[in-house]
Parts: sequence; structure tokens; C-alpha cells
Amino acid sequence: MNKKVQVDKKVKEKKKANYDERNKLNNLTGAEWQYATKTVISKIYPSNLQHKLRSQHGGQKPPELCKDLIKIFTKEDQMVLDPLAGVGGTLIGAALCNRNAIGIELNQKWIDIYEEVCHLENLNRFPVLCGDAKEKLKEIESGSIDFLLTDVPYWIMDQLTHTRSDTTERKSNLSKFNDKDLQSKDEWLSEMKSIFENARHTLKQNGYMAVFIGDMYRGKEYHFLSADLARTISEIPGYVLKSDIIWHDDSKMLHIYGYPFAYIPSLIHQHILIFRKEKI
Ligand SMILES: C[S@@+](CC[C@H](N)C(=O)[O-])C[C@H]1O[C@@H](n2cnc3c(N)ncnc32)[C@H](O)[C@@H]1O
Repeated sequence: MNKKVQVDKKVKEKKKANYDERNKLNNLTGAEWQYATKTVISKIYPSNLQHKLRSQHGGQKPPELCKDLIKIFTKEDQMVLDPLAGVGGTLIGAALCNRNAIGIELNQKWIDIYEEVCHLENLNRFPVLCGDAKEKLKEIESGSIDFLLTDVPYWIMDQLTHTRSDTTERKSNLSKFNDKDLQSKDEWLSEMKSIFENARHTLKQNGYMAVFIGDMYRGKEYHFLSADLARTISEIPGYVLKSDIIWHDDSKMLHIYGYPFAYIPSLIHQHILIFRKEKI
């Protein structure tokens, strides 16, 4: 046996030794588990896996961040669902760590891009149902999902003036996430509530759900969308809020909003809300 093979064998044996056979949640060793419970993610994720192609979406998430989350909440070969799949951050993440996945996405254009990325990167391509998640979720077998990882479309802010230019109304890029007319924050929360209500039956008992959500500063005030969404989802019987992970995204460009007159925050973090489906 050559030296490298010997070393690899030793590492594998050591890993196995630290793996608790009672672990029903994932394939992590104790040390990996300890690291995975950190409430801040500050790792820098590369712009890889056809980032340029996926950036046409504008709200895409790093597949490797999704992979890291999936590895915390599933074992190999388990099933992951993203009912708001976009260009497939979650689905690509699942392929990268040998999990299975299924997606739902309203806009066929984003599904086409996801499929192209899989082709170009030679990745396992998972099915994506095209349509409204509220309806399509009914087609997914109850209890068949081990982990639900998703990223909500943002509250449409078009009617609010951007703080950068108080005199000119600007269209938010985020409006392209769906083509509905202007939506109030309450309407947005109520739509999110019905999506998560309809998703609940798909998740197995004691399965986890992780939801990406960024806060916003618009119309001269801070909108704590993560807190609003956490409260709204917690109102749905069966979902218990377990954590709020902060993803520190150092790739975000900084702007000097407000300078030199007022303090306006540069939002370089997003929240990842963690829920567990528990007995009602
Ligand atoms: C924030 S993006 C998700 C981006 C994704 N994480 C990625 O990496 O590409 C939210 C997606 O939800 C889709 N969407 C919005 N409302 C929907 C609905 N009711 N049913 C299904 N998809 C919806 C939007 O078209 C958008 O692509």
C-alpha cells in the first residue's frame, strides 16, 4: 500500500471512529456537527458552477452554500425540496452532495437555465415542476421530503422611493421575481404563508426546513422582513422556529448610501430561518 492510500485509510478510520451510529439526522461526525451549529456563516463561496449564466436571475444562491446546509439536515440519498427553485441553487447543491431533489418554479426561463447548468457542469439534473407552488405542492407525496430548503421571492417594493434618490421613483429589480401588481407587505406575508402551509404535508415528521430571507432598507426605514417572515411561518401549526443563521455575504458591493448626511446600512447579510416540523 502506498503512503497516500495509507494516510487516506487512516483519515477514513478516524472519521468513522468519531461518527455516532445513533445519528439519525446527517452523516456528520461530532466535530463536523459542532462546526455546523454555528449561527454565523462567513465562508466565502466561489462564483462557480456557471455563475454568469445563473446571474441572469439576480436572486440566485451559491450552490455550495446550499450544499453545506443540505449536509447538515440530511443523509446521503435523502430527498430535498425547493418549492421556489429559481435557477436551482438548492438543486445543484443537492447534486453536489449526492442527495436527491425536486423543485417547483413559476418561470420556465429559470428552469431552462437550471437545466443548461446541469448539462454544462455534468451534474445530476432533478425534476422541476413548472407552476405556482401553492398548487404544485399538492402533487408531492406527503411525508416524502427529508429537508425543505428555499429562498423566498422578495416583497415588491416598487411603490416605495429608493433612499438613494428621493425624487425619482425607481423600479426594483426584485419585481421580476413575479409579475404581479404591487403588493403590500401584508399581502406578501400572506402569500408566503399559503406557500408554507401547502408545503407542510410534503415534509416528514421532525424534518427541517431552511428559508433564506434578506432584510431591506427602503423608504427611509429598515424592514425586518426576516423577523416578519419568521413570525408568519411560526403561526402555521407544526412549524417550530429553531434558529436564525446569519449568512455574511462578503461578495456584496458596498455603496455610500446617505453620505455625508445620514446613516444608511449596507446590508451584507441574509438570514436563514430554520424550522422543524413537529407534532401539532
Ligand atoms: C429568490 S428566487 C429563488 C432563487 C434560487 N434560490 C436560486 O438559487 O436560483 C424565488 C423564486 O421563486 C419563484 N416564485 C415566486 N412565486 C412563486 C410561486 N408562487 N410558485 C413558484 N415559484 C414562485 C420566482 O420566479 C423566483 O425564481
